[in-house]
Amino acid sequence: IGMALVSPEGRWLKVNQAVLNFVGYTEEELLSADFLKITHPEDLQQDLSLVAELLSGKRETFQLEKRYIHKQGHYVYAFLSVSLIRNPDGTPRFFISQIQDVTELKKNQQALQSNSKMVALGEMAAGIAHEINNPLTIINLHAMALEQLIKEKELNREMIHNFTSKITSTIGRIGSIVSSLKKFSGDNSKMEKFESHKVKEIIQDTLGLCNEKFKSHGVILNLSVPEDLAIECNPLDVSQVLINLINNAFYAIKDHPEKEISIAAHAVGEHVTISVMDSGPGICPTLKSKILEPFFTTKPFGEGSGLGLSISNSILKVHNGELYLDETVGKTKFVVKLPVFQARVKAPAALRLSSKAS
Ligand SMILES: Nc1ncnc2c1ncn2[C@@H]1O[C@H](COP(=O)(O)OP(=O)(O)OP(=O)(O)O)[C@@H](O)[C@H]1O
Ligand SMILES: [Mg+2]
Repeated sequence: IGMALVSPEGRWLKVNQAVLNFVGYTEEELLSADFLKITHPEDLQQDLSLVAELLSGKRETFQLEKRYIHKQGHYVYAFLSVSLIRNPDGTPRFFISQIQDVTELKKNQQALQSNSKMVALGEMAAGIAHEINNPLTIINLHAMALEQLIKEKELNREMIHNFTSKITSTIGRIGSIVSSLKKFSGDNSKMEKFESHKVKEIIQDTLGLCNEKFKSHGVILNLSVPEDLAIECNPLDVSQVLINLINNAFYAIKDHPEKEISIAAHAVGEHVTISVMDSGPGICPTLKSKILEPFFTTKPFGEGSGLGLSISNSILKVHNGELYLDETVGKTKFVVKLPVFQARVKAPAALRLSSKAS
C-alpha cells in the first residue's frame, strides 16, 4: 500500500516505493512537485475542499476516491485516506496519506456498467420488435384482403386504392420507426462533447420507438413540450433516460383501467425539466428510497433487471442533472432536471491550495 507525507501546501515530502510505482515517477521527480499537478482536474475540487476541512479542523481524516495522472499520461484510480498531523502549537505539520491502487477494481466496475448497457439494449430491442411488428401485421392483413378480393373478382378501383394506400402509409410508419432507430445507432462514445439539442426533437425521437405500443394498448399520451426549448446534452443519453421512464410508466398502467401517460417540459431558470407522469397505482412509500438502487425491482423475475432508474440516474449525473419524484401530485411523476448549458471544467490553476493552507 502507498504511503506519503505531504506538506500543508501540498508538496510531497516523503513517499514509499508503492506510490512511485503507482504513478510512474521517480522519487526525485515526485518530490519536486505538489499533488495538484498529478491530480485529475475533475477530482481537484473535491480533494481541495476536503483538505481545507482538515486544515480548518472541521474534520480529522477523510477518505476519497480519486484519479492521479500517471507519468505516461493515463489515469490511475486511488482510494485515499488522509489525516493531518499538527505541531504542538496546533499549526498544521503534514498530511499522512494512504494511497491504495484501485485501478483494477474500477476497470471491473466499468465492465459491469457496460454490461448493464447491454441489458438496456436488449430491452430496447424487444420494444422495437414490437413497434415494427404491429404495422407489419396491418400490411399483412391488407395484402391478404386484396388477394381474397382478387380471388373473388370483386375488385373495383376504389377498393384497390383504399387497400394499397393503407399499405403505403403503414410502410411509411415503419420507415419512421427505422429512422428514429438510426439516431440510436450512432457511436455513442464519440458523443462526449455536449451540444445544443431541441428538447422537443429528443422527445419525439424517443416516442418514435413507443408509439405503436401505446396505440395497441389504448394508452392516451399527453404531450406538452415548448417548441424552442433546448439543452446542451448527448441526445442519445437523454433518450435512454426517457425510454427507461416511459417503459416504467407503461408497465405501471398496462393492466390499469386508466391508461394515461403525460410528458411535459418546462424551462426553470437555467434548467429544463422533463417530466413523465402516469396514471398507474403509484410507488409504495416504503420503497421510494430504494428505487434508484441498482438491481432493485418489484417486477417478476425476467421482466425487469432493476437497472433502468439507476442507469438513468448515472447518465443524468454526467450531464450535471438529476432525477427525482415529484410528490406534490397524486400520481407517479418522475422529473428529469438538466442544465441548459454545460459548464466548462475549471482550470486547475484557479484553485490554490497554499492560500488556504497558510
Ligand atoms: N412509474 C412507476 N410506477 C410504479 N412503480 C415504478 C415506476 N417507475 C419505477 N417504479 C418502481 O421502481 C422499480 C425500479 O425501477 P427500474 O426502472 O430501476 O427497474 P425495473 O423497471 O424494475 O427494471 P428495468 O428497468 O431494469 O427493466 C420498479 O421495479 C418499480 O417498482
Ligand atoms: Mg425500468
